[in-house]
Amino acid sequence: MLDLDRLPRHEVRRLRQVAARHPDPEEAFRELAERRLAGEPLQYLEGTAAFGPLELEVDRRVLIPRPETERLYELVVELVTDPGVVVDLGTGSGALALALKHRFGSARVVATDISPDALEVASANAERLGLEVEFRQGDLFSALPADLAGRVGLLVSNPPYVAESEWESLPADVRREPRVALVAGPRGTEVLARIARGAADWLRPGGLMACEIGETQGQEALELFGAALSDVRVAQDLTGRDRYLLAWKS
Ligand SMILES: C[S@@+](CC[C@H](N)C(=O)[O-])C[C@H]1O[C@@H](n2cnc3c(N)ncnc32)[C@H](O)[C@@H]1O
Repeated sequence: MLDLDRLPRHEVRRLRQVAARHPDPEEAFRELAERRLAGEPLQYLEGTAAFGPLELEVDRRVLIPRPETERLYELVVELVTDPGVVVDLGTGSGALALALKHRFGSARVVATDISPDALEVASANAERLGLEVEFRQGDLFSALPADLAGRVGLLVSNPPYVAESEWESLPADVRREPRVALVAGPRGTEVLARIARGAADWLRPGGLMACEIGETQGQEALELFGAALSDVRVAQDLTGRDRYLLAWKS
């Protein structure tokens, strides 16, 4: 017996809309509701997530793009006019890379991920949206073509920044998302530290580094990125939490 009272009404309505596309809507709705009640994220069941100006297809191979990351996109487009070369490290569904290509049509946009599964989703999104982005698989900067060294005008990343010990306390539906997308290591700042160490080699003079961070990581991020870049600052999300690191190459 389905306990639909445990689901918010807007979710029931959205699941009914998805089910209506199936040949047997009642059966499809029952199956979707059971999966939702078992903790599967709504966006995986719908198969889509909004991100800035785009609608992306998502499934369990990728992190569901978050409103906090949309805010990072908004901050960046307020600061940059003509980036030339854009790099997105850890692109997941392609969210930042595709939104930035949509915004800066003439830019060369390169998006990387360590996960081949994520890159399949991101490439399919790019093709469906008609946005030309170069996707490259590999560990952070090692995925980038050598000729981009010192030429990147905008380097963005929403890297994993959760500590291993925090994983078990994350909400059940968040733990349905890929662990590699969320967990960075014992401290949580390991991937941020590696990005901070490499950024200056890839940015052009005047280039911007813009990174999402965990809300308790502002001070450490300032120290990590301040070692190699200039005008380093932390910016807040719409609720006032420290969630972004911005820095420039002098
Ligand atoms: C927090 S998710 C962000 C996904 C997407 N940028 C977004 O904002 O929705 C982090 C992404 O980084 C990727 N990732 C994790 N470690 C990586 C590494 N060492 N090198 C490259 N990508 C990595 C994960 O596979 C995941 O897609």
